[in-house]
Amino acid sequence: MTANWAIRIADENDLDQIMRIENECFASDAWSIENMHDELVGAERFYVVAYSTIAEDPDRLIGYAGLAKSPLVAQGDVQTIAVTPSSRGIGLGRALMNALLAEAKRAKLKDVFLEVRADNPTAQNLYRALGFEHIDVRKRYYQPDDVDAIVMRLILAGEAKHEPLVLGIESSCDETGIGIVRGNTLLANVISSSMEMHARFGGVVPEVAARAHLEALGPTLHEALATAKVSLEEIDAIAVTNGPGLAGALMVGVGAAKALAVSLGKPIYAVNHLVGHVGVDILERGELETPTVALLVSGGHTSLLLVRDLLNDVELLGETIDDAAGEAFDKVARVLGLRYPGGPEIDRAAEGGDPKAIRFPRGLTLPKDMHKHRYDFSFSGLKTAVARHVEVAQAKAAAGEAADMNVADVAASFREAVADVLVTKAVNACLDHNVPRLLLGGGVIANRRLRELAKERCDANGIELRIPALSLCTDNGAMIAAIGSQLIMAGYEPSGLDFGADSTLPVTTVQTR
Ligand code: KG4
Ligand code: ZN
Repeated sequence: MTANWAIRIADENDLDQIMRIENECFASDAWSIENMHDELVGAERFYVVAYSTIAEDPDRLIGYAGLAKSPLVAQGDVQTIAVTPSSRGIGLGRALMNALLAEAKRAKLKDVFLEVRADNPTAQNLYRALGFEHIDVRKRYYQPDDVDAIVMRLILAGEAKHEPLVLGIESSCDETGIGIVRGNTLLANVISSSMEMHARFGGVVPEVAARAHLEALGPTLHEALATAKVSLEEIDAIAVTNGPGLAGALMVGVGAAKALAVSLGKPIYAVNHLVGHVGVDILERGELETPTVALLVSGGHTSLLLVRDLLNDVELLGETIDDAAGEAFDKVARVLGLRYPGGPEIDRAAEGGDPKAIRFPRGLTLPKDMHKHRYDFSFSGLKTAVARHVEVAQAKAAAGEAADMNVADVAASFREAVADVLVTKAVNACLDHNVPRLLLGGGVIANRRLRELAKERCDANGIELRIPALSLCTDNGAMIAAIGSQLIMAGYEPSGLDFGADSTLPVTTVQTR
């Protein structure tokens, strides 16, 4: 089953959507918009929202919760918690409460209090399961219904585990990403992309990407700190991607990370980019169940991994022997006269097309390849086949022998071929290794047909499919911060300052010392 939601810190821009839920859930008891606004921006307030990550319905809020902190007396109060009626029963309430409790622990609060309606046993059971105890009753607290409030308390003192505040820097390709996490909680994920600068070249130009990182790093860093509401001085450690990726681009991030670590006197962790794509799942689901197979597909990589342990046992099962999957989309888009980046353009063009119109080749799937290259990919033959098909169709149309080429059919048939190969090999990897879990990552995961086919085949084979929110699927700093945080909490030593950027860093090296 795929979780279709995620949690993040709330801000003022969420006010209208929060009020929609507030009115839906509490009707006559609802807070006014002014009160809610004061809460969202108030000092010592911590508000989180749950949002939908379904492609058709992105970013729609489906719940929220707030905590008021009183640091002087080390107490917290759960101010409110709400989940839209249509999203109940999927663990959202528990996840929202956990986010508040993580903040309470971080703020070193000793007790957290809440009030719950006496006629709401479902909520009381949830709070009890989280460790809250019934300590008092306020008679007829909820008016006009005349319902009592049960006061509950959770004692936290003594169990506060240190959750490190980690800043992650990612610059391996064309996205400058800065992420900030506290333990497993995402506080900020800011991305600045130079994709548009590469558009007229039809692909990422390394030198242009490196320069863009240099310009974007400062502003992106400041925006991330502002979003997370933390200062640089509060950061406990820096994590940075040191490979694989474009050497010049990586060097910008590595240089910046070292400068920050030295100037702030904080430890630094050099993290593998591909492992970041896998570990990002922790920010949404709290733990990464292993073993898991991971399929990472973007403009720069097409890798199939077997992850037995995120921090010290990651195996590369296979990868592309020529173009990356995203690159294939970009190149075929050019052949079809579509813009860069090609993936979304082809997705759009393929709507309404017949995926069976043309049987394009599935690279490395012949019986002989399925031994030697069972988990490897090849897209260059497919790309050539599409180019040839287009040439022939255009020549026939020009000679008046046939109607104009049907772009939708070509796009749909190409997309089908890519999705089919990717999903077939990923599912094979799961079945061969007896792993009932598949995690997807990378920008190509935005592809509709790929998502659909992955879901279909995973369901058919009893494999749990995990797809992070798209903002965490594409290259980002939060995934790097998440790995840094995992390394720290597991007691790994920091990296020295003498590691370099390694464009071909193997995935077996999770952290470079
Ligand atoms: O992960 P990503 O943002 O980072 C880089 O590789 O830099 O991936 C970008 C790639 C591009 O090649 C783009 O064409 C592809 O992901 N992509 C897609 C879709 N959206 C983006 N490919 C197929 N279908 C899509 N909907
Ligand atoms: Zn990537």
